[in-house]
Amino acid sequence: MKAIVYEGMKKVKVKEVEEPRIQKSDDIIVKVTSTAICGSDLHLIHGMVPNMPQGFILGHETMGIVEESGKDVYKVKKGDRVVIPFPVSCGHCWYCEHDLWSQCDNSNPNGEGGGIFGYSNTFGGYDGGQAQYLRVPYANVGPLVISEELTDEQALFLTDILPTSYWGVENSGVKNGDTVVVLGCGPVGLLTIKWAAFTGAKRIIAVDYIGYRLEHAKKYGAEIVNFEQYDNTGEYIKEITHGGADVVIDCVGMDGKMTTFELIETVLKLQGGSKSAIELAAQAVRKGGTVALVGVYGARYNNFPLGDFFGRNITLKMGQCPAHAYIERIYKLIKERKFDATDIITHKLSLDKGEHAYEIFDKKQDNCIKVILKP
Ligand SMILES: NC(=O)c1ccc[n+]([C@@H]2O[C@H](COP(=O)([O-])OP(=O)(O)OC[C@H]3O[C@@H](n4cnc5c(N)ncnc54)[C@H](O)[C@@H]3O)[C@@H](O)[C@H]2O)c1
Ligand SMILES: [Zn+2]
Ligand SMILES: [Zn+2]
Repeated sequence: MKAIVYEGMKKVKVKEVEEPRIQKSDDIIVKVTSTAICGSDLHLIHGMVPNMPQGFILGHETMGIVEESGKDVYKVKKGDRVVIPFPVSCGHCWYCEHDLWSQCDNSNPNGEGGGIFGYSNTFGGYDGGQAQYLRVPYANVGPLVISEELTDEQALFLTDILPTSYWGVENSGVKNGDTVVVLGCGPVGLLTIKWAAFTGAKRIIAVDYIGYRLEHAKKYGAEIVNFEQYDNTGEYIKEITHGGADVVIDCVGMDGKMTTFELIETVLKLQGGSKSAIELAAQAVRKGGTVALVGVYGARYNNFPLGDFFGRNITLKMGQCPAHAYIERIYKLIKERKFDATDIITHKLSLDKGEHAYEIFDKKQDNCIKVILKP
């Protein structure tokens, strides 16, 4: 079958690889109909996640048709159309039972965090779904059957960025009337803005430096701030919000635009990437407010602004989204036409165009926001 594989720093390739097979009695094999590229995939191809072997199949945002199922699978059957949440979760450990699905204790033999599809050996070594077929373990837990009335485009983001953005807003406690700053206007940031508005936030300030993405945020009613236009964007936001926002949600992560100093620190491995967005958040939040990190961070960071958080009684929350906890709730909202995320799709390409798709998404070319690939 064809799949997009990691070929080393900043290199992916569409290659012929072996088809997956059922390995355990509760596995299914899904014939992929749609799959997407995520900002998290960029951390992989930028070499920021350890234990990523050459030839590893990428992709954790995948849906398709059940092609084959193990003898103990009862939740889905051959022919069902399913979305697969990105964390691999057993469904019965303490963490899964307490809605911390992304911290599953059984799905990742190689580390503490739970397994993730297509996300290196550090996260369990599971092949990803940017391929024609995907093996899904624990098939009585993750997959959700999607009604024929919805298109792939309407349902696909239930795998990750819809639950992730929803969780970012809920986990940071956004309330009716709040002022919310969203850092980063990629797919995750844009949907975070949409959910914040949905939740009743009165004022939303969107921050990025890519013009077309800021323009998209404006369509959702956000005020926009291009951080390259200010000497100190954090202080500027504090000023225009009269002391800071109730909530700041970082949807940037370690791939944020780096200062020269951060670049050197990252190359020397003194630091896990850029923390510019965290520095900005520390200033843009009000006293007693909350900062949530939805963007992914790894390794260690120098000069972390701990005192700024402590001195101003800031609550700091973060982590991998426990997607399973939100998927059915959001599916219902989509079916009832109360929420839609299809407007962020700028490119629908064939899986064969995988290399080009990564290139435009990574380099923010051709007004790219979200790419869907069709095997
Ligand atoms: N926590 C989770 O479970 C989870 C799930 C999915 C994605 N993510 C993470 O969310 C983040 C965003 O994903 P995406 O798909 O939107 O990625 P993306 O790369 O398309 O978007 C990131 C955006 O941030 C902007 N940016 C860069 N530096 C910035 C800065 N200093 N301040 C403000 N904006 C800045 C970029 O221009 C870009 O538009 C990634 O880190 C991804 O790994 C986390
Ligand atoms: Zn993702
Ligand atoms: Zn578990």
